[in-house]
Amino acid sequence: MSRRLVAGSEEHKNLFCQQFIDTHLTFDPEELPWPELNEEELARLRAVPFWQEVYHTERRAGAIVQAFLPQIEDPIVREAARVQGVEETRHAKLIRVLIDKYGLNATEQPLEQFPDDLEKAFIDFGFGECLDAFLGFGAFKTARESEFLPEAMFEIFDVLMDEETRHIVFFINYMAWREKQRGLIAPMRAMKSAIFYGRAVRRLKGMVGRGQEMNDGKDFNVTQAGVFLDGFNFTKFVEDCYRENSRRMAIFDPDLMQPRLLPAMAGLALRGLRLWDLGARQLRRKPA
Ligand SMILES: [Fe+2]
Ligand SMILES: [Fe+2]
Repeated sequence: MSRRLVAGSEEHKNLFCQQFIDTHLTFDPEELPWPELNEEELARLRAVPFWQEVYHTERRAGAIVQAFLPQIEDPIVREAARVQGVEETRHAKLIRVLIDKYGLNATEQPLEQFPDDLEKAFIDFGFGECLDAFLGFGAFKTARESEFLPEAMFEIFDVLMDEETRHIVFFINYMAWREKQRGLIAPMRAMKSAIFYGRAVRRLKGMVGRGQEMNDGKDFNVTQAGVFLDGFNFTKFVEDCYRENSRRMAIFDPDLMQPRLLPAMAGLALRGLRLWDLGARQLRRKPA
């Protein structure tokens, strides 16, 4: 964020909300240029074990934002959050179209009862999105480079990724504004973020576990989807997350805040991983 604005000020609030509202796209998922897939591509798409979880997550996202809206008193913040709700609901519709069009194995699960503290549910969801999006950047790039599916399919998912990037930028700015309203100082804000990220990591682990169960214990790697994981390299994955995050964030107004904790942690991890890779390579080169 540039020094021109004070984080959490009225001017900051108006900027992050208005930009979010102004950059909303209108489209119908049914009308997108869905590609025809051959048998092999269909088998790969169907072997991905988490469509049900993705569909549920998007439906849940739309429902949380909708439920929280009446509690937002500030009109421009409420309007921006409403737009996010529209986008989340459309994500669920997009995944539904994908499931129906390609005959994917995913059924509609009932949504759980939200807690009374709907703002906390919204904040939990927001930090979860920050984590999912950051990891999703790397996974998306890996899948795209492996040509796991036709490029036309990745172009459709790119729209979804762009919207998720918008959401996390909106959320980070919303949090700064909200905490400023409550007079929370920076170290307290950082500690709170770390706690919420911890909760998001636990939820993500639960989701991965459920995906594995749905896959009947079959290893994702030995299914048709193995092509996506062939030659998987952890350091490269972290690098992709880090670089894709920078690339996708570069289009936003420098006066807006952006997620910092995960990129900073990934940057630090990368230094360690590169040193580790270098050490391992040198050890392998040493004559016995
Ligand atoms: Fe979404
Ligand atoms: Fe989202």
